[in-house]
Amino acid sequence: MNLQIRPRRLRGSETLRKMVRETRIDRSSLIYPMFVMDGENKVEEITSLPGQYRYTVDRMGEELERQLDAGVSSVMLFGIPEKKDEVGSQAYAEDGIVQRAVRYAKKEFPELYMITDVCMCEYTSHGHCGVLCDHYVDNDETLKLLAKTALSHVEAGADMVAPSDMMDGRIAAIRETLDASGHVTVPIMSYAVKYASSFYGPFREAAGSAPAFGDRKSYQMDFHNRREALKEALLDVEEGADILMVKPAMTYLDLVREVRDHVNLPVAAYSVSGEYAMVKAASANGWIDEEKIICEMAASAFRAGADIYLTYYSKELAGRCL
Ligand code: PBG
Repeated sequence: MNLQIRPRRLRGSETLRKMVRETRIDRSSLIYPMFVMDGENKVEEITSLPGQYRYTVDRMGEELERQLDAGVSSVMLFGIPEKKDEVGSQAYAEDGIVQRAVRYAKKEFPELYMITDVCMCEYTSHGHCGVLCDHYVDNDETLKLLAKTALSHVEAGADMVAPSDMMDGRIAAIRETLDASGHVTVPIMSYAVKYASSFYGPFREAAGSAPAFGDRKSYQMDFHNRREALKEALLDVEEGADILMVKPAMTYLDLVREVRDHVNLPVAAYSVSGEYAMVKAASANGWIDEEKIICEMAASAFRAGADIYLTYYSKELAGRCL
C-alpha cells in the first residue's frame, strides 16, 4: 500500500502522543466551587454530591489547604445562610456568610484567589435569583441588590466577583458600583451564557435554593438557543465584563466554541453539579472509570476553547490529568 499520509505515525508512543498533544491542562486554569454555611464547627456531606461538603467558616480551611496542596489556587464561594427572607438581605449583609468566609480565607490563605458567586437565590425565601414583584422577578430592583452584594464581597476582600443571576444589565450595574467605590481593579467574571438547566439540580439541593414556585426560565436562557448566547456574551463585553462564562459545560461545548470564536475575553466553562453527580453515580456502580472520564471531560472543555474550567473535581484533575 502506497500511503503518503499515515495519521497513526504520530500515535506510536505515549511520548510522541504527548509531544503532539493539542490541548494541555494547567492547574492554574482550574477553579474549585465551594459551599460555605452559617454555624460553627460543621462539615456536612452533600447528599446529591458525594465527596463535596458544606463547611462552616471555622472549618473551611481544611478544604482550602487540600486545594492548595493539589496546586489549585482559585476558589469560587457559594454561601448558605441560616436565615432567608423575601429580599435576600443576608446576600449583602456585612457579616453575611460569604463576607465572613472571604475575610477568613484571605487572612489565613492570602495566596488563594477568592472569587464570589453573586446571586440572590441562596438568600431569598422564595428561591428566585432576584426580588419579586408579584410572581415576576423585578430586573431593575434586583440590580441594586446585586451591586450592593458584589460591593460587600469586594469590601470583605474578594479578588473577583461572578454574577450568576442572569438579570439584564447586571454587569454594568456592578461595574459602576465597584468603580464608584474605588474598586476599579477588581475583575468581573460574568456567567454570561447561562442556560435554564436541569443539570443544576444537585446544586439546588446543596444550597437549598430551588425556586419555591415556577422555574428560572424567565431569566436563564432557553437551551434550544445558540444565537442568543452570542447576544448575551456581546452585551456583557459592552457592559465591561472581564471574563465570560458558559454554563453548564459538557452539553454546551458548542457555545464555548461560539463565544471563543467571537469574543477576545477569556472564556470559562463551568462543569456543574449535575455533571459531577452523574459521573459519581456511574462510577460508584463500576460502570465508568471516574479518573479517565473526568480527564476526558476537562480536555473537551479546553479543546472547545475554554481558558478556565470550574469543576468540583479540581483536586483530582490537578493530580491526575496534567
Ligand atoms: C446561582 C447558581 C446556580 C449554580 C451556580 N450559581 C444555581 C442555579 O442557577 O439554579 C449552579 C452550579 C451547579 O449546578 O454546579 N444562581
